[in-house]
Amino acid sequence: MDLKSIVEPLLNWYGRNARKLPWRDDPAPYRVWVSEIMLQQTRVEAVKPYFERFLRELPDIGALAAVSEDRLLKLWEGLGYYSRARNLQKAARMVLKEYGGVLPREPKELRRLPGIGEYTAGAVSSIAYGRPEPAVDGNVLRVLARLTADERDIRGTAVKRDEAAQLRGIYPEGRCGEFTQALMELGATVCLPNGAPLCGECPLSALCEGLKTGRAASLPVVSPKPARKKEEKTVFLLLCGGKAALQKRPETGLLAGLWEFPCAPGVLSEKEAHKILSGWGFLRVQPEPLPSAKHVFTHVEWHMAGYLVHVPEPAGDFFWAGRKDLGERCAVPSAYKNFLRILQSRAELC
Ligand code: ADE
Repeated sequence: MDLKSIVEPLLNWYGRNARKLPWRDDPAPYRVWVSEIMLQQTRVEAVKPYFERFLRELPDIGALAAVSEDRLLKLWEGLGYYSRARNLQKAARMVLKEYGGVLPREPKELRRLPGIGEYTAGAVSSIAYGRPEPAVDGNVLRVLARLTADERDIRGTAVKRDEAAQLRGIYPEGRCGEFTQALMELGATVCLPNGAPLCGECPLSALCEGLKTGRAASLPVVSPKPARKKEEKTVFLLLCGGKAALQKRPETGLLAGLWEFPCAPGVLSEKEAHKILSGWGFLRVQPEPLPSAKHVFTHVEWHMAGYLVHVPEPAGDFFWAGRKDLGERCAVPSAYKNFLRILQSRAELC
């Protein structure tokens, strides 16, 4: 099929059906960039309130470059994939130093910045600067695989490159940002994943090879992901004089630099928990078992046991946090949300 024929109907449809989203009212480069980073791996509905709060507190590149890491992570708390926030800040500092505070417009320059890959570079360049640069994410790959009845595995990197090259040739002058967003929007609201496209509502149904040949629902072909690793651990809510013990995670790796409750590897029995506690200097304490919890990351799942422990003195190398620290200062990842909720429901936390 001639891909060029999708441009007009898709733009017309987008004009009538685009969702009203906070970053669309004013596609200034900084706003587009922050929104695209937040939208990686996170649903639009979840991003909205974070985006608005982030922009209110850090309205420009200078503010982002200057904010403390703790506050930055706190603003990101709950969004997950925290390296996105750190990279945003690193990139903001680079933009100040090397580009006079103005986000570059060329994808090649944008890709030099931490956290900006092929997709985000295309999105910023087209949406914020109106350049004919495609942004091919999972939504767009799905739309194109169905439109052209392409049976290749979309996990292959060649497919992405190929689709980007084809799209680059059909970008409509003067409407590049709309075109990028129209493709994403069709994937997000009509050409839905998991075999559930709403072909009856699609502005491209008359052109769709996948629909014509009865394969729309079974495309795209996606090879299965490798299985996630399972890790068991035990989480300790240590309470002392109305404060709870926290420790900072290492500066690299999963959830780098975020705060967490003290924990130990393995699902520990009460007896084993005692041993860990005495190793930290808490003797003669009574660990109370808490409901277990599970959290699924991209490559690993945590299966967690938990104990609540009142300790008489603050021992160990911990930071003792009160309600205000937990609310404003210390970003605790969502993986611990059940334990955090239990802690926050305790009247003795001050
Ligand atoms: N997903 C990724 N980028 C998006 C955008 N700009 N609007 C809506 N959904 C998106």
